[in-house]
Amino acid sequence: MESAERLFKGELLMVWDHYGSGADILDALHDFMEPPPFSADHLVKRRYEAAYRKAAKNLLVGVRGHKVILRGGAPIGFLEELYPDMRQFALPFVEMQELFGAWRRFVEGVPMPVLGHPLHPYYGTYAPTRTSHLELFATWLSQYKGSRSRAVDVGCGSGVLSLMMAKSGVKQVLATDDNPNAVHSLALEIERHPPKGRVIPALGDLLEPNQTQANLIVFNPPWTQQTPTSLVDRALYYPEGLFERFFDQAEQHLAPNGRVVLLFSNLISLVQPEIAHPIQAELARGRFTLVQTLNRRVKSTKSGKSRTKEKVQVWELERASR
Ligand SMILES: C[S@@+](CC[C@H](N)C(=O)[O-])C[C@H]1O[C@@H](n2cnc3c(N)ncnc32)[C@H](O)[C@@H]1O
Repeated sequence: MESAERLFKGELLMVWDHYGSGADILDALHDFMEPPPFSADHLVKRRYEAAYRKAAKNLLVGVRGHKVILRGGAPIGFLEELYPDMRQFALPFVEMQELFGAWRRFVEGVPMPVLGHPLHPYYGTYAPTRTSHLELFATWLSQYKGSRSRAVDVGCGSGVLSLMMAKSGVKQVLATDDNPNAVHSLALEIERHPPKGRVIPALGDLLEPNQTQANLIVFNPPWTQQTPTSLVDRALYYPEGLFERFFDQAEQHLAPNGRVVLLFSNLISLVQPEIAHPIQAELARGRFTLVQTLNRRVKSTKSGKSRTKEKVQVWELERASR
């Protein structure tokens, strides 16, 4: 039986010879499982990805002395950092590929023109691959006339928004994330490129680590609603109730004349039209009013062509007067 079919049926296989053999088997698995077309529904694509990943994880690779036992495999420093006491073990080939990609991004950095230096996301930390929403936030920040004494960056990830704010004259930014890898990543970034203003990474849910009122509460949340199943998923998909909890906390922590600023997109209206728009739903509750929204079409990174309907947005909200 072909390797792809055996993986699909749940058999565990091990790659012993060359990196290329593992990559070829995973390509064959994709062909065998017949991926849905590009135009397929979002949920159909997600279901396929989950099924593919389950089968792909049956393909294993050996690790000895923190090195992958394969010809053609490059060094992966995270094997030593994340598994310091494990001399010999096996891990799924796809996870080895992800560790390799993560190590490269960490060592080489991800270009971040809005900062003027690359970001070095630690393993398991989200880092933006597109920049339109960051450029739009830079535009918003440059025209913001309110106080820059204290901001909270909720869900800081690798820290780009915190560092942009610190660069633009915000004196103190509390950067929260409930992913410990993200908090560690930003702490390392601050050491590498000390910012002009003070940036304090803090582990916790939404605004919980915040103790005093903030002039700016900034949040680039996940943009579509699904139940997240991994650390990376939690940057992209929000569970039910996340926005409600965020706005409850934002109302408590916002200083007089402060602003709540969300980076969002019209993606949810395009791919999940049946779900209530979480910011419009909050505005309808009457606790906040809309100051302005900024919109920009998304450019795809590879071709530079505009995507047809997708737009990134900055939503600026203030407390409603009673
Ligand atoms: C789309 S990413 C944005 C990261 C970063 N601010 C940026 O703009 O590149 C969303 C971030 O929110 C974090 N997050 C999700 N749910 C959270 C929660 N309940 N509390 C704190 N952070 C959360 C994720 O871990 C992720 O880092």
